[in-house]
Amino acid sequence: MVEKISVKDILGMKGREKIVMVTAYDYAFAKLVDVAGADMILVGDSLGMVMHGLPSTIPVSMDDMIHHVRAVANAKPRALIVGDMPFLSYEVSREEAVRNAGLLLKAGAEAVKLEGGVEIADRVEALVDAGIPVMGHIGLTPQRFLRLGGYRKRGRVVEEAEQIIEDALAIEDAGAFAIVIEYTANEVAEIITRKLKIPTICIGSGPSCDGQVLVLHDLLGLSKEIPPFAKKYVDLSKIVVDAVSRYASEVREGIFPSKEHYFSMKKDELKKLLDKIK
Ligand code: KIV
Repeated sequence: MVEKISVKDILGMKGREKIVMVTAYDYAFAKLVDVAGADMILVGDSLGMVMHGLPSTIPVSMDDMIHHVRAVANAKPRALIVGDMPFLSYEVSREEAVRNAGLLLKAGAEAVKLEGGVEIADRVEALVDAGIPVMGHIGLTPQRFLRLGGYRKRGRVVEEAEQIIEDALAIEDAGAFAIVIEYTANEVAEIITRKLKIPTICIGSGPSCDGQVLVLHDLLGLSKEIPPFAKKYVDLSKIVVDAVSRYASEVREGIFPSKEHYFSMKKDELKKLLDKIK
């Protein structure tokens, strides 16, 4: 068993075994998903929605990402930690992209992910030149939902499918070590997986990819709504509400805390105290 998963290990998994990636945004869940055997932990900008209750990922800042990457890194997982570059942290210039990606690495990320295809290939190149491992993200790119006209399916018509394939090739050529393909027709994801030497990680793009990624809160049943391509493996919301309701009832009924949850003074010390304060 590999002690610590590296970018090289992820590359070596292509065509051999499926790669498992899941998001986590804090110390406790990073520990748990690592024990569960995830190969990569994505500190995704989806944290804006699932951790901060924002309507989209647009308002997520570098400070938000650094804060959550630090918390995940403190778990010292075996899994590779990938930190998302938030909206406008890499679009303006190559220099800004390198500086911001560097901040995520200093906070504990071991790779960064950024959304986009041909148009951001030079940013990927700049990061790789600076020694920063990069994961691409094509197909549905949620940071661009305004331009795309919503969170819609991608690659159903030839022109769009061709563009997504071109994006994948450009990101690989720029030096990325893996690429997320989101909400894209299965056939397009399959073609890309066959064409690329780097692993493809799917979300909502079918089973042909080299790996899969899910948002942890969707998988655990902690999200209010989940996208049609996500799968809820447990209803943790119900489990949490049940547990906290039982706690509330026990407090109100005087059942909690019971004897094993508190301690008492020594008898002679108590007597001395009572004599003093009389
Ligand atoms: O931010 C995120 O969680 C992501 C995944 C949906 C791939 O980018």
